[in-house]
Amino acid sequence: MHPMLSTAVKAARRAGAIINRAALDIDQITIETKQHNDFVSEVDRMAEKTIIDTLLEAYPDHAILAEESGRRGESDYIWIIDPLDGTTNFLHGFPQYSVSIALSYKGVLDQAVIFDPTRNDLFIASRGKGAFLNDRRLRVSKRIKLAEALIGTGFPFRDFQHLDAYLAMFRDMLQKTAGIRRPGSAALDLAWVAAGRLDGFWEIGLSKWDIAAGCLLVQEAGGLVGDFSGEDSYIDTGNIVAGSPKIFAQLLQILSPHLTDTLKGH
Ligand code: IPD
Ligand code: CA
Ligand code: CA
Repeated sequence: MHPMLSTAVKAARRAGAIINRAALDIDQITIETKQHNDFVSEVDRMAEKTIIDTLLEAYPDHAILAEESGRRGESDYIWIIDPLDGTTNFLHGFPQYSVSIALSYKGVLDQAVIFDPTRNDLFIASRGKGAFLNDRRLRVSKRIKLAEALIGTGFPFRDFQHLDAYLAMFRDMLQKTAGIRRPGSAALDLAWVAAGRLDGFWEIGLSKWDIAAGCLLVQEAGGLVGDFSGEDSYIDTGNIVAGSPKIFAQLLQILSPHLTDTLKGH
């Protein structure tokens, strides 16, 4: 394993241990509201600190982009961190959340870890070296018919500017797929696309730390990731579609009639 990836795995497992310990007594956790429906707890902050300390101990010159503490440092190497993706689930004891850590080098995603501490599932990927779940090589699903596909998504819940477009997409998806799931951790949704548990995924307006690691996992598992026009702006806009190549193309077709100018943007 690439030494930077093994450092990221160590960091993710340490964060996972903090999250698992806190999950035993969720009533004791202090919670703050960042904005409407946007919560952060001491667990998010503790997990993030542990991750950053672990990474910077090994690579003091690297830069950080982390959800709770923002940007620090300047370097060709940037660690993109979501210490707890799925905080709302976590705070309700709904066991679907993850730790997501990606490393980008000169603007290109290079290493990725997504750790599901409830199942002890470790998803890793290195550029050009494939994606793995607990040492088993991952491939995206082989399903080719959208009518048989299980699709993941995330609902808009804090910013409702695209709600009408989203509901129109949702209506179409409901009728043309085998089912839709909203598990509640975008990072894990993407890891599950890589693992073939979901055939595809789409969501509007995610942040870099939600998707960076998941995108590399999907690509290294043979899948495609794009914005709603199938292009590359997803890492900046957070408007994202992912899936096996066959399902990806069909998802883009379903979404296209519902795109406003902003959602087309690339
Ligand atoms: C959220 C989760 C969720 C997605 C939201 C994200 P957080 O991350 O990934 O699935 O729908 O848009 O913000 O806030 O729990 O880290
Ligand atoms: Ca997140
Ligand atoms: Ca988070």
